[in-house]
Amino acid sequence: MPEEVLVADAPPDEPFSRDVVVVGGCGRVGLPLGIAFATRGLQVTLYDINAEAVGVVNAGRLPFAEDGAAQPLQSAVADGRLRATTDPASMATAEHIVVVVGTPVDEHLNPDLAAVPRAIERCAEHLRDGQLLILRSTVHPGVTALTEKLLQRHGVDADVAFCPERIAEGRAMTELFDLPQIVSGRTDRVVARAEKLFRALTDEIVVLRPEEAELAKLFTNTWRYIKFAAANQFWMMANDFGLDFERIRHAITHEYPRAADMPHPGFAAGPCLFKDTMQLAAFTNNNFVLGHSAMLINEGLPLYLVSRLEARYDLSTMTVGVLGMAFKGGSDDPRESLAYKLRKILTLKARETLCTDPYIVDERFLPLEEVLRRADLLVIAAPHPDYRDLSTDKPVADMWGLLGGGVLI
Ligand SMILES: NC(=O)c1ccc[n+]([C@@H]2O[C@H](COP(=O)([O-])OP(=O)(O)OC[C@H]3O[C@@H](n4cnc5c(N)ncnc54)[C@H](O)[C@@H]3O)[C@@H](O)[C@H]2O)c1
Repeated sequence: MPEEVLVADAPPDEPFSRDVVVVGGCGRVGLPLGIAFATRGLQVTLYDINAEAVGVVNAGRLPFAEDGAAQPLQSAVADGRLRATTDPASMATAEHIVVVVGTPVDEHLNPDLAAVPRAIERCAEHLRDGQLLILRSTVHPGVTALTEKLLQRHGVDADVAFCPERIAEGRAMTELFDLPQIVSGRTDRVVARAEKLFRALTDEIVVLRPEEAELAKLFTNTWRYIKFAAANQFWMMANDFGLDFERIRHAITHEYPRAADMPHPGFAAGPCLFKDTMQLAAFTNNNFVLGHSAMLINEGLPLYLVSRLEARYDLSTMTVGVLGMAFKGGSDDPRESLAYKLRKILTLKARETLCTDPYIVDERFLPLEEVLRRADLLVIAAPHPDYRDLSTDKPVADMWGLLGGGVLI
């Protein structure tokens, strides 16, 4: 693994040698963003505490799958436009610092208000007057204001903007250039500076105040989560009535634009939608009935699915194969995937549970062929395109309708 590039702390009066430092730059969001800036000719440093990921990136490789990112990463690393480091002193080298560390909710579903401030605090000694700090993590409302106070406490005269990331994993390399960019700041100067940076990626800029932008991002993810919950509840209703929801959904959406966005049923999970709905619930004094209902429906789906299977099969005598462990189809990201919840429930109910995934490396998983051979019953838990042409004589529970045989279970 190549040595990480160490960047010396620049004296306060030294001009900036890089254009952008991305804090959390080797993560699922930070890395594509860094690559995108580099493809537009900016000098980008990715600062990350994950030394392994830093090594992989400096070797010109992606630590995870992201469509269309491998080649631009390789060329940007090769000509020095992109470099990764674990050295916090790198923060002093660029005018723009984009912070995009993880912002989870804890085991009690409380948002960690300090996740972003903590990451900045760790390297606050390297911040310089005149910098523009751009928060890009999805945050609880108020975190931009907390960050402004933090800088004041440290005596740093830097601007703070909040510009949320709205890409979907796997589509970052097109969406970063195609989606409008929400830019927010407390003053016209902050907005103008942030806008100038993001105009390197896109012409379409939407300006908000920081608190509006914080809510805009949470509303975006929560809206999506609620839509999935509605479709999942409709599926359960139809299913319990012995009807194939896919036939009904097709009739509703066919040539009918007002309902065209009704999703298919399926596990709605992953690192963002659930936790951002819970961030919004915490923000609204845990009185977010719609959000909590969506959570109960989406998180309850594996239990419902297994209860339907139990009604038809004696699971205690069966080996069940779980196909796809990622949180969504075509992804190698297992974070917060409901496939793991399904596996846990089946571990209690079935004689044996076997898991497989074509993209996730996990020594507990088996090759697809072995699962198809050994299982008595198959459940598609992540709708990977690889399963579309599944050839098996075993029964398959396919709530996604991936195989074209309806979604009645
Ligand atoms: N994953 C998505 O699809 C997506 C989309 C839009 C927004 N977001 C938001 O973006 C943020 C990041 O999400 P992600 O999926 O990229 O997370 P991630 O865990 O993949 O990436 C975070 C990175 O930050 C690094 N890191 C953590 N603490 C650090 C510190 N103190 N200093 C430097 N690096 C540090 C980690 O090592 C990791 O590489 C979250 O707020 C998330 O809600 C995610």
